[in-house]
Amino acid sequence: MNNDSSVASLATRLRAEATGLRAGTRMPSSRTLTERYRVSPVTVSRALALLVAEGVVVTRPGSGTFVAERRAAASGEADRSWQNTALGERRVDPEGVALGLIPVPDGIVPLVGGYLPEGLRPTRALAAASARAARRPQAWGAPPPEGLPELRAWFAGLTGCTPEDVLVSGGGQSSLWLALRAVVAPGGPVLVESPTYPGLIAAARAAGLTPVPVPVDGDGVRPDLLAEAFARTGARAFVCQPTFHNPTGSVLPPDRRAGVLKAARQAGAFVIEDDFARHLSMGAAPAPLVAGDAAGTVVHIASLTKATAPSLRISGIVARGPVAERIRAAQLVESFFPARPLQETALEFVSSPSWPRHLRAVSAELRRRRDVLAAALAEHVPEIQLPSLPSGGLYLWGRLPEGLDDAALTETARAHGVAIAPGRPYFPAEPPAPYLRLSYSAAADTDALVEGVRRLSAALRASR
Ligand SMILES: Cc1ncc(COP(=O)(O)O)c(C=O)c1O
Repeated sequence: MNNDSSVASLATRLRAEATGLRAGTRMPSSRTLTERYRVSPVTVSRALALLVAEGVVVTRPGSGTFVAERRAAASGEADRSWQNTALGERRVDPEGVALGLIPVPDGIVPLVGGYLPEGLRPTRALAAASARAARRPQAWGAPPPEGLPELRAWFAGLTGCTPEDVLVSGGGQSSLWLALRAVVAPGGPVLVESPTYPGLIAAARAAGLTPVPVPVDGDGVRPDLLAEAFARTGARAFVCQPTFHNPTGSVLPPDRRAGVLKAARQAGAFVIEDDFARHLSMGAAPAPLVAGDAAGTVVHIASLTKATAPSLRISGIVARGPVAERIRAAQLVESFFPARPLQETALEFVSSPSWPRHLRAVSAELRRRRDVLAAALAEHVPEIQLPSLPSGGLYLWGRLPEGLDDAALTETARAHGVAIAPGRPYFPAEPPAPYLRLSYSAAADTDALVEGVRRLSAALRASR
C-alpha cells in the first residue's frame, strides 16, 4: 500500500532539487532516494513517474534518471541553475527537524508531534504574560547579552548552578546547534546516543560534524561503551539526554550518570546534556547531570518550548569555564541575543502562579494519555513490543516484529488515517531492528489516541 501524500511530498522535494540542477544532470538513484527520504521504493518510483509526466526529468533505461531540458525559455522562467555551481556540493538536510514540524492534515490521527496539543498549551497565560512584557519600559531595547538577570537566575535554579553560569538562548534546537559548533571542531566526531533525536543528528551533520553512535539500552547509555567510543574516536563531546530520552523515554540511573561523567572526564571531553523534557515529568525528575559537576564537564541545555508552546523559543545554557566564553561569543556573533519581549514573556510566565498550576495539569494529562495509548496498543496491536513505559516525555518507543519495514508501515498507516514516526531516522547508522515512535501528546484527546491505534492495527494487518 502506498500513500498519495507521501508521493506528492517527495515529488515536491525532487522537483525543487531538479529545478536547481543543469539539464542532463543525473538524479540520485532510487536506492539513495529511498534512504535519504526514508520512503519505500514504490513511493520513489511513483514520485519519479510524476516528474517524468511533468517533463521535469527523463529516465534512460539502464542508466538512470536525468534532469530534462529546461522549458524555461518557453515558459519565460529564469534559469537559476547557475546557483548550484556557486553553492557547491555542501548540503543542509533539514529532514530530521522538518519531519516533526509538518502539520498533520485533518482527518489523520497524529501519533506524531513533539509539543503539547493546543488544548494543553498555556495559551491564555502566555497571552497575558506577553501583554505585560510588551508594556515594560525596556521591552523593545537590547537585553544584557547573556540574558535578563532574573531569567538567568530562574534557569540557574533548575540546575543548582549560579546565574552567572547561564546564557539565555533561543530554544533547544538553536542551543544544540550553538553548543555543538562551539565545542567540536569542524569535521570532528561527536558521540551521540543511538537511537537519538533526529534534529540532533541533522544539526551535527549540517555543522559538518560526524555523529558517532553509542548504543543505549532500557537504562540509557552504557558508560563502558561510551568510554570505549571516546577512546576509539578521540571525540571531545558526547550529547546525552539523561532524563526522559527521546525516543526511548529512559532515565539514566545514578550509577550510569556517574559513569558517564567519569568516562567524559577521562577522555578530556564535554557532555552536552539535552534536558529537553525536564518539565514533562509524571512524577519527580532526577537532578540534571550538571548539578554537582564542578569540573565544567557538562554543558546543560534546558528549553521552555516543550512544556509550553513551540514558539516560546527560550532556553538556558549552563556552561562554566572557557567553554562558556566560547558559547557566549558564538551566540553574539551569530544572532546577538534572543528577542527581549520573548525573554520578558518567559520570565513573566515562569514566575507567575500559573506556571506550577500548568505543570501539574500537564503531568496528570500526560500520564493519562500515556496509559491510554499503552493499553490500546496492548489490546489492538500486541505485536508491537513496548520495552518500558516512560515516566516523562511525550513518546512510546515500540519494537516492531522482525522483518516489518518501519518506513513502509508508516506509509500504510498514513493511508489508514494515522500518522506515526518510523524508527529509522532516530538511528545515526543502520538500526538494529524496526521501531516506531508513537507520541501521545499531539492527538486531540484520549479517544483519538484509541482510534489512532485501531487504524494502526488495520495498517499492520494490511502490511503482512
Ligand atoms: C530531544 C530534543 N531536544 C531538543 C529539541 C528541540 O526543541 P526546541 O527547539 O523546541 O526547544 C527537541 C524537539 O523535538 C527534542 O526532541
